[in-house]
Amino acid sequence: MNNTQSALQLARKSYQPKLPKALRGAIEVVELGKTEPATHKEELKKLFPNTYGMPILRFVESTKQKEYPAINVGIILSGGPAPGGHNVISGLYDGLKTNNKDSRLFGFILGPGGLINHEYKELTADIIDEYRNTGGFDLIGTGRTKLEKEEQFEKGLEIMKKLDIKALVIVGGDDSNTNAAILAEYYQAKQAGIQVIGCPKTIDGDLKNDIVEASFGFDTTCKIYSEIIGNIERDCNSTRKYWHFIKLMGRSASHIALECALQTQPNICIISEEVAAKNQTLDDIVTYIAKAVAERAERGLNFGTVLIPEGLIEFIPAMKSLIAELNDLLADTTEGQTAKQSEQRNWVISRLSTKNAAIFASLPESVAAQLTLDRDPHGNVCVSRIETEVLLSSMVGMKLAQWKAEGKYVGKFATQHHFLGYEGRCGFPSNYDADYCYALGCTAAQLIFAGKTGYMASVRNTVAPADEWVAGGAPLSMMLNVEHRRGKEHPVIKKALVDLEGRPFKEFASHREEWARETEYVFPGPIQYFGPSELCDKPTKTLQLEKAD
Ligand code: FBP
Repeated sequence: MNNTQSALQLARKSYQPKLPKALRGAIEVVELGKTEPATHKEELKKLFPNTYGMPILRFVESTKQKEYPAINVGIILSGGPAPGGHNVISGLYDGLKTNNKDSRLFGFILGPGGLINHEYKELTADIIDEYRNTGGFDLIGTGRTKLEKEEQFEKGLEIMKKLDIKALVIVGGDDSNTNAAILAEYYQAKQAGIQVIGCPKTIDGDLKNDIVEASFGFDTTCKIYSEIIGNIERDCNSTRKYWHFIKLMGRSASHIALECALQTQPNICIISEEVAAKNQTLDDIVTYIAKAVAERAERGLNFGTVLIPEGLIEFIPAMKSLIAELNDLLADTTEGQTAKQSEQRNWVISRLSTKNAAIFASLPESVAAQLTLDRDPHGNVCVSRIETEVLLSSMVGMKLAQWKAEGKYVGKFATQHHFLGYEGRCGFPSNYDADYCYALGCTAAQLIFAGKTGYMASVRNTVAPADEWVAGGAPLSMMLNVEHRRGKEHPVIKKALVDLEGRPFKEFASHREEWARETEYVFPGPIQYFGPSELCDKPTKTLQLEKAD
């Protein structure tokens, strides 16, 4: 008896992901017209002369079965795990084998570092079969090494030549796909004979545009968090004695918090993009929450739920300017990083501009220290390590204590804190993510056989039944803009933040006052894998609202 695999794992092995019609047999590649980025056109044209302006591609069913030569392909999983990654690999594998059974697939170990350090494993049918429809990235692992230097590109080329690899698939978020764009251009410029294809991954949901309607993993992760939030809400409404402050992963954009709010109807949900747009201060946010607490307390409701997006701190304008200065300061020197913590605080204060030094000095020591922790290799603050939920609840507590002393508030304010982060990134992919990822993998294989490079695999129209999904490719160069990062200008894929004019936010905003006042919790329960389609295959509310006519 196999005792290392759960009953669900065994049952999911035989799930056959649904594919769009156009990916089930022979295809024809249709070009849909040239593209260009939305901004910085001239700069980007100069930086990407070989991959700029390519057309959007769409696959359509064909009656002509073509013959394809066998091809060796490499794959890298990059950045944080996201449910469905293993299905990208199995879709890619099946797509390669269907067109030519002698094709081979190699996985680079622990992310881009595996390519540079020549650590890889060949992915064969027996290995792949063990990982179909499972969560996690543990088949080959992932990492955050930034592929940016010429010597890294050359090291990669060396191993790919040795393994006769002709195409590389990079599965990642905005930063990793930016690297894919740069790598594609580099190999194309030197006629290295290596195609590079990107694949949109991130639970954060902030890699999307007209052609790429969702990053994989967002669907499953939001459903896992929403199940837990619903359970907390039910506990909250059962015992009626705690305010639960729940921080939700999502490095920058608030898509996860917004989607979970739409699914669970908490009393409060902060949306970072709105905070930035309204130029709110930390005190504005604290006052907003404290008022809702006080109003519920007047009606004897001393309990509630507050959702806080992980990236909030970077969207409070004053904090944003502080973090930007800290990023430049810490990127320029290792002195500040290595100084002892207490000395480092003074070291940082002495080097910041007067305004930012004052803000930094006013922060609780723990939060100030969390802001100066090592950046990730892309220069980002590690927001998952900043305890915003504790910061906010303690500041709300202080405000309520002050109001109590002034006779403006009568109530009890006991808190619980939660951080829903890592527990959502490796769950069994929902049917949506299992199908979407498998289709993305097959799409990447077709882009490779079509000889394309500098493209992101794209599968859209995913609110419709899978039959009607539209597969093809979107040029990576059309997603780029130029941004100031780590003290310099860089071409990067623009993050898709929550659109305050978009339907998902408007839907939330139209209900939030009522949700704050009343107790209208919704309990989504666990993801369903077997059963009727309306229960098992529904995409996120965000996507449904975005695509609603
Ligand atoms: P990706 O964008 O690379 O998919 O990562 C997303 C994320 O899960 C964020 O939500 C979170 O802030 C971050 O990764 C945590 O990173 P780490 O795994 O390095 O702690």
